[in-house]
Amino acid sequence: MSRFEGKVAVVTGGAMGIGAACVERLIAEDAVVYLADVDDAAGAKTAAETGAVFVHCDVSRLADWESLAECVVREHGRLDVLVSNAYALRFGAPHELPEDDWDVVQAVTLKATYLGLKVFAEALTAAGGSVVAVSSVHAHASYPGFAAYAAAKGGLAALVRQLAVEYAPAVRVNAVVPGPILTRQFSSLSSESIADEAGKTLAGRLGRPEEVAAVIAFLASDEAAYVTGAELAVDGGWQVKHR
Ligand SMILES: NC(=O)c1ccc[n+]([C@@H]2O[C@H](COP(=O)([O-])OP(=O)(O)OC[C@H]3O[C@@H](n4cnc5c(N)ncnc54)[C@H](O)[C@@H]3O)[C@@H](O)[C@H]2O)c1
Repeated sequence: MSRFEGKVAVVTGGAMGIGAACVERLIAEDAVVYLADVDDAAGAKTAAETGAVFVHCDVSRLADWESLAECVVREHGRLDVLVSNAYALRFGAPHELPEDDWDVVQAVTLKATYLGLKVFAEALTAAGGSVVAVSSVHAHASYPGFAAYAAAKGGLAALVRQLAVEYAPAVRVNAVVPGPILTRQFSSLSSESIADEAGKTLAGRLGRPEEVAAVIAFLASDEAAYVTGAELAVDGGWQVKHR
């Protein structure tokens, strides 16, 4: 498949995990991809391995988004795909969670998507582009310790619908809702804990980053031309099992 020939994409948090799988998938389908991340070593490594362009960008900072947009628009004059994937996670009930931790989770996980549209709305509109935000099952399910993250992902779910309204019909805006995916937060867990997480899904296993990337690529492509303001679960049936 070559659904992104002649198209330009930005993937935030693209250095590893689901973001890196997106970078790889979009490049395999001929997109020019800008990989935006705070981890310079991992970002440069993934960029070298995939052919992406690495740009240091802390997605919680407007100035970093402005530099990224200036670079993309100067070099290509367009943006077709924005994958808003970077996140921050801090655990704790509100009475034990430091205020700074609350703020960083909201800034990286929620505010970043607003900042992305702030700087790229014009380029996305001109290109008839598409935004895919990476949400989480925690937008819809409540577990102890996840107050900040769940609030941010719940806010992101509302923001995605709102952005779909604001920028229609030129720009489509959708979300994927991953369940447990085998990235670094699971790589340090014991095999018992992983089996426990796998047991929470209908699939009976953790998902792979490339399985999420495949759905993101679908939503970003013209095959999903009639899909906007939608949430698509990529969770092996996690949410069905938990309702
Ligand atoms: N892995 C899962 O089980 C799972 C489940 C549900 C949702 N998600 C969502 O999927 C997305 C990707 O998760 P993952 O597991 O691949 O994560 P990961 O930890 O493997 O990768 C996250 C990337 O984001 C980057 N990043 C962190 N803060 C940043 C910032 N301020 N600016 C720019 N980049 C920053 C990191 O450097 C890293 O490269 C997140 O939105 C996460 O909430 C993941």
